[in-house]
Amino acid sequence: MQAEDRHIPVLLQEVVGFLEPWRGGRFLDGTLGLAGHAEAVLEHGADELLGLDRDSEALALAAERLAAYGPRVHLRHGVYADFPKYLAELGWQSLAGALIDIGLSSMQIDSPCRGFSFLADGPLDMRMDAQSGQSAAELLRSLSFEQLRDILARFGEEPNAAKIARAIVQKRLTTPITSTSQLAQLVEQCYPRQWRETARNHPATRTFQALRMAVNDELGQLERFLAAIVRYLEPDGRLCVITFHSLEDRMVKQAMQRWSRGCLCPPYVDHCVCAHHPEVRLLCKKPVQAQASELARNSRARSAKLRAVARLT
Ligand SMILES: C[S@@+](CC[C@H](N)C(=O)[O-])C[C@H]1O[C@@H](n2cnc3c(N)ncnc32)[C@H](O)[C@@H]1O
Repeated sequence: MQAEDRHIPVLLQEVVGFLEPWRGGRFLDGTLGLAGHAEAVLEHGADELLGLDRDSEALALAAERLAAYGPRVHLRHGVYADFPKYLAELGWQSLAGALIDIGLSSMQIDSPCRGFSFLADGPLDMRMDAQSGQSAAELLRSLSFEQLRDILARFGEEPNAAKIARAIVQKRLTTPITSTSQLAQLVEQCYPRQWRETARNHPATRTFQALRMAVNDELGQLERFLAAIVRYLEPDGRLCVITFHSLEDRMVKQAMQRWSRGCLCPPYVDHCVCAHHPEVRLLCKKPVQAQASELARNSRARSAKLRAVARLT
């Protein structure tokens, strides 16, 4: 199967419209995936592109897809929060544009062996980088009741967080929880039957999402990226961020609003202490979401939200 058949890029036209790669220059795709966005950026005139992904399988497929662009493309296996390190390796001081699209690729969701989905049985892994870090099964084995409850409540906004955490802690006394179907069934039993019969989503949806975010430190990655990226945008440099989770969208919204007021401080600083106050303009006041025509082709675009800014000075 070709890379382009394994994942349909979301909000593609909108991303290209904001990044304006026809201006030329150097671009970063921090979440390369199957390279749908990256290919469009190159096709529309970017001089060079640095693509990062923590998933080596995605990176290999992206490399095949982008091979025709030769030396214009630089690919690295790594996390997007570390982007300054990769720019320094290339000797790049600044960027004409940057994109992160921080969901899972369809290829990851659809591979039972990666453990992201409860729709098929597989090992409870959920690591985007299958070579490093702790799997979801390891977290379920080692975290305390309080830690599990807090992860489910915070990252999953799970109303039954305490009940599910307690069920996990009980279960593991006798049986290790190592498969996606085991966890899905355990969560299902924490919900009343009537709820299960009428709910729109599977009861395990929030638990799987929360664990995935914990396994991959997804909010930590976003926080580090947002703290650094504007300094690397050149005048008229563009940034696009696509999120699939309300917590992430809120972080992006708040950061972009702060930048548009001339402040690059991290969110926990009450009074601005920035040395530089670049002018940053919001390219959209509200997040851009997929139109009906896109949703008809790609239901996974349903929860995608795109926000974009331009650094003016
Ligand atoms: C939604 S897909 C990106 C799809 C891509 N835009 C395309 O057009 O094919 C997200 C990708 O980002 C990668 N990813 C997620 N978090 C990452 C991180 N912190 N650093 C690097 N890659 C990450 C995932 O492994 C996945 O391949």
